[in-house]
Amino acid sequence: MASFQAPKGTFDVLPEQEAARAAVLAYTERVVGLAGYGRIETPMFEDTALFARGVGEATDIVRKEMFTFEDGGGRSITLRPEGTAPVCRAYLEHGMHRLAQPVKLWYAGSFFRYERPQEGRYRQFNQIGAEAIGSGSPLLDAEVVILLDGILRGLGIDRLKLKLSSLGSTAARMAYRDELREYLRAHESDLSEEVRARIDLNPMRAFDSDHERTRGVMAGAPTLLERLEGEDAEHFAEVRALLDAAGVAYELDPTLVRGLDYYNRTLFEFDCDRLGAQSGVGGGGRYDGLIEMLGGPATPAIGWAAGIERILLAMEAPQPQGSVEAFIVSAEQRERAFALVLELRAAGIGADLDLAGRSFKGQMKQADRSGARAAVILEADGTAKLRDMGSGEQREVDPARIVDEIRAAS
Ligand code: HAM
Repeated sequence: MASFQAPKGTFDVLPEQEAARAAVLAYTERVVGLAGYGRIETPMFEDTALFARGVGEATDIVRKEMFTFEDGGGRSITLRPEGTAPVCRAYLEHGMHRLAQPVKLWYAGSFFRYERPQEGRYRQFNQIGAEAIGSGSPLLDAEVVILLDGILRGLGIDRLKLKLSSLGSTAARMAYRDELREYLRAHESDLSEEVRARIDLNPMRAFDSDHERTRGVMAGAPTLLERLEGEDAEHFAEVRALLDAAGVAYELDPTLVRGLDYYNRTLFEFDCDRLGAQSGVGGGGRYDGLIEMLGGPATPAIGWAAGIERILLAMEAPQPQGSVEAFIVSAEQRERAFALVLELRAAGIGADLDLAGRSFKGQMKQADRSGARAAVILEADGTAKLRDMGSGEQREVDPARIVDEIRAAS
């Protein structure tokens, strides 16, 4: 039993688990790269006020889930719980509003939320995300949804459900919230205590409740989708038509609630029923007011993020890929074996040798375990053999041409 363990809600990523993660990143980079997204990296921590203002004081994230501390200079610092507010901060700080719009950015990295840990929910987790800032076109809404859909499906995730909704404009949402508050007050005695306490602060969260009687009340509640009008309704109709034309299936979900306050208009989430309670693989939406809220000019924008751990859970048992192609076996000639390993690696061929003083037989076993496709057997008399680890076939090779032989065999 180790004296120390990784903190609650965190985990180590072991070498055999890295390949699948790298594959998710490489695939994401390819898909978003084809659509013109460039990678951005922002710091792991930011001024607390950025999230309080950007994500919203009333959200669970800001109220309960942030890792906030004072630094040595007395500033309030928060480990980033999400990436959208930091990317918008960077967009403004670096004057990206002066570039040709929209500016398309993607990111990957660790995020931190003090949540109750369970499978698929951690206190430090990783996201891939994309933000397209500076265009209100419904084409961009369709583009970002199609990108995430393509990434998740391309990674082999099936049993996906895309839930789609629209929150309309801020004004429409305010008017709707008033209507919803009135409805909730009229049914107050049936609501859970938590929902009741939040009628003023965040009435939309009532749709999220798993309290039986609250759910009954919410089944009859007016929805924002029914109240969409004018340009909001047109925008949403266009997004839907574009997704239909692209063959992306979705379900309208007027009760879709996401735990961030910056959204308006299009809102979406991908669920996978391979996952348990934490079925949300990724989601996002428009946030046309966020840049202005952070002190910039009025700038429409939309984006999404997806959890890498949830993607891996939803992918069918990804096969870890060994990168050792050749394993060198030699009874006596360790220096010669080591020199050959270095030569193979320099030639771009993954290679390894025994470093535990194993017998000849033990080395052959290790060659098998390493996942290498070939074993090179260096004999005491200076000759060499190449063994195909798959078929067990073995043949003599010219010791001076081993690199070429292995290259030819792959
Ligand atoms: P979010 O829905 O809070 O959105 O997080 C996005 C994804 O991150 C979730 O769907 C989930 O897969 C993963 N995730 C969230 N919390 C955890 C956790 N505690 N453990 C494991 N995975 C988690 C955002 O973060 C927004 N910034 C998305 C966005 C970008 N909206 C517009 N642009």
